[in-house]
Amino acid sequence: MQDFTFSTTRTIVCEAGAADRLAEHCRAAGAGRVLLVTDNGILNAGLLDSVLPGFDSADLRLGIFDRVEADPKSATVEAAVQAARTLGAEMVVGFGGGSSMDVAKLVAVLAHGDCRQSLEELYGVGNVQGPRLPLLQVPTTAGTGSEVTPIAIVTTGETTKAGIVSPHLQPDTALLDARLTLGLPAHVTAATGIDAMVHAIEAYTTAHKKNPISDMLAREALSLLATNIATATHRGFDLEARGKMLLGALYAGQAFANAPVAAVHALAYPLGGRFHIPHGLSNSLVLPHVLRFNAPAAAELYAQLAQTIMGVECPSGSAQKKTAALICWLENLIAELGLPAKLRDCGVTEDSLAQLAADAMEQQRLLVNNPRMVTEQDALAIYRAAF
Ligand SMILES: NC(=O)c1ccc[n+]([C@@H]2O[C@H](COP(=O)([O-])OP(=O)(O)OC[C@H]3O[C@@H](n4cnc5c(N)ncnc54)[C@H](O)[C@@H]3O)[C@@H](O)[C@H]2O)c1
Ligand SMILES: [Fe+2]
Repeated sequence: MQDFTFSTTRTIVCEAGAADRLAEHCRAAGAGRVLLVTDNGILNAGLLDSVLPGFDSADLRLGIFDRVEADPKSATVEAAVQAARTLGAEMVVGFGGGSSMDVAKLVAVLAHGDCRQSLEELYGVGNVQGPRLPLLQVPTTAGTGSEVTPIAIVTTGETTKAGIVSPHLQPDTALLDARLTLGLPAHVTAATGIDAMVHAIEAYTTAHKKNPISDMLAREALSLLATNIATATHRGFDLEARGKMLLGALYAGQAFANAPVAAVHALAYPLGGRFHIPHGLSNSLVLPHVLRFNAPAAAELYAQLAQTIMGVECPSGSAQKKTAALICWLENLIAELGLPAKLRDCGVTEDSLAQLAADAMEQQRLLVNNPRMVTEQDALAIYRAAF
């Protein structure tokens, strides 16, 4: 067996209603001034209504930065850092989907009094020096797993998405409260759920750092997500299904935090950057085509996942046959969830495909993890197939 190291968020609280006690968790962490980073949609959906009163009675000073947008820009990170400095924040809470949680991670680093780095200096792997402020994450989508990953993704310039990866970004605490996800709209539930499934699939087949703990988590994640994604999408108020989706997304996050994702994400990011297609949907659009491309190199592993997801419905026979069944199963799922399956249905133009392929080549941090090497020509062929 290969040597490996596995890290994750130190404390995980999973409890329906846990968010109502957020103030207690902040006080227990020793903070007097807390900046909560979120977005306007979360605020308008009333998700903070039962959270805020706890802060009045807890003698805590709470600042709210609610200007995070989907696929947050670097300017948004800078504005949130400024809000933290103005408040004199001693702790940061990310409250939302991956966008809010990722911004919160960077605020925790950049708003620390001892930080001498700028945001530009952080991009890439291992460039964050730390220390940072205490960091608690409350996910409201069952998708990115950002509450347990040492990763933040920022939109730089107009069209490019760049990653920051560092142990300093690993949150201290993840607080999972499935009640927060009950009102998540169907299309967001579906897309973010597919994102989580992709995290598990890509972690399981990664060319680097594949390890037995991530494998175990990826399989369990897929089992939970595959069983519950349709119910969570079509019957949003099913608390049981919502809870399992949240846990599945967390497991998938733990898996890929230690066994990194690959070409599905590398080809998804340009779709987010150029066409503002949400992260989960971007993944969903290229997923079947990347798996088909990878099959010659990864069929044995895909066959194992097909067995995990499809159980008795998985056909017997060769790994190739099982891989084909897995891809077909995923395509049917995407249709059943009501997600568009073609780039052309999401505003992508045919004459942009070459540019997208060139952009995807910039994502070498991810492409090196793919089980099969991807050239620019390959990327273009995959986009064409997805078009
Ligand atoms: N850090 C990581 O490890 C990691 C991994 C994958 C993706 N990402 C990044 O995360 C971002 C995507 O995050 P996301 O997919 O969670 O979406 P998001 O955070 O962008 O949120 C999407 C939308 O859903 C709304 N929303 C969220 N929760 C809601 C709820 N409970 N009820 C009603 N509305 C709700 C938000 O207001 C927003 O409009 C992208 O920037 C992506 O690159 C990060
Ligand atoms: Fe993702």
